[in-house]
Amino acid sequence: MTISQVDELWGAIINAYVHPQAKLPLSNKLMFKDIAKNLGYRVPETYKVIRSPAEINDFITDIESVPDSFVVKGCTGDSGQTVKVIARQEGSAKPTHRRFITEGGTTMYWYDAPSLQSHMLDIHSGKFSPFVQVYQTPDGAISQEVPWKDIVYVEEKLQSHPDMTKYLECGVADLRLTYWKLCPIHARLRLSTKEGDGRSNISLNRPTPNINMDGITTSDGILGENDFTFNGHNTLGITIPEFEECLTIGAEICHALQINTVNVDIALARNGPTLLEAHGGTAEWAGKVDVMKILGRIMDIEDNVKEIKDVETGLALGKRVYNNNRQVTLEEVAEKLLGRKEECEKDAPDASMED
Ligand SMILES: Nc1ncnc2c1ncn2[C@@H]1O[C@H](COP(=O)(O)OP(=O)(O)O)[C@@H](O)[C@H]1O
Ligand SMILES: [Mg+2]
Repeated sequence: MTISQVDELWGAIINAYVHPQAKLPLSNKLMFKDIAKNLGYRVPETYKVIRSPAEINDFITDIESVPDSFVVKGCTGDSGQTVKVIARQEGSAKPTHRRFITEGGTTMYWYDAPSLQSHMLDIHSGKFSPFVQVYQTPDGAISQEVPWKDIVYVEEKLQSHPDMTKYLECGVADLRLTYWKLCPIHARLRLSTKEGDGRSNISLNRPTPNINMDGITTSDGILGENDFTFNGHNTLGITIPEFEECLTIGAEICHALQINTVNVDIALARNGPTLLEAHGGTAEWAGKVDVMKILGRIMDIEDNVKEIKDVETGLALGKRVYNNNRQVTLEEVAEKLLGRKEECEKDAPDASMED
């Protein structure tokens, strides 16, 4: 099995199981935040939504209108590329002469006003956005090919949950929860580091232990080494605060979005679990966690899919099959989820005609 085979299979599964309409809030963080907030979930407070270079300029000159700490982001983009976590401001009283110290907290990591402005202009220009975006036209049709100018936004910088602070160099910890039809199929803790400048993205090579359904970390999902120490603490055996609540929030998000499979990111913040984003891709899986284990869980869920009536029964099924460790092959998964074998047989030349 190669990474590209798994990616190709997963891409086909996403296409088959995720309706384009459901992809919209997954490709737009602000839209997702609005939906989550309206459903009553905690999200970081949005301070500013910025749609033009002139508004970026206004933001910098009127910096007093947001608190000392804040986070800059784009609606699209991933791997933390748009995200700047600003911990505090220093220097001149004049906004345009300020220094913005990022969460990494060393002298390497600060921005003066022009460079923060330039980063925001980069986000706005679409530098970090995918070339094409799923987009809904006013008449309700879905178009796939729209050049994307991103919206910049500024939100509250979250504080760490007190139980998690000792495991972090800085920033907040978050959970990456993955679901299949309301059942959790993967849970992972992401710890933020100074090198990641207060971001915990897996692509930034952060420690990311896997979590069992009892809410306790079990193994390292990415480094795969024998040393699990980070920031002076063992990262195995950490009990995740409010894990059960996080699992439920993720499943309720799947239910609300009517989506078959999704990744939900939830920050373990001081005020309680706080939703950061939801997305459909699995680029951060491939080769780094045991994807075959996850596919085994999906197959077990499919065998018992009739049990899933609501969030509660979905969670119960996911938890029940989580540690089955069913061994599967890519062929078996493709056949079960995509009916590929049947398609091949249908397309194959009819034996009797060949004769
Ligand atoms: N409001 C926030 N407060 C503190 N840290 C944050 C906040 N938003 C994001 N982060 C950190 O930055 C990382 C990336 O943010 P996210 O919104 O998930 O963007 P991306 O799509 O680029 O991953 C998060 O995993 C988290 O570590
Ligand atoms: Mg993220």
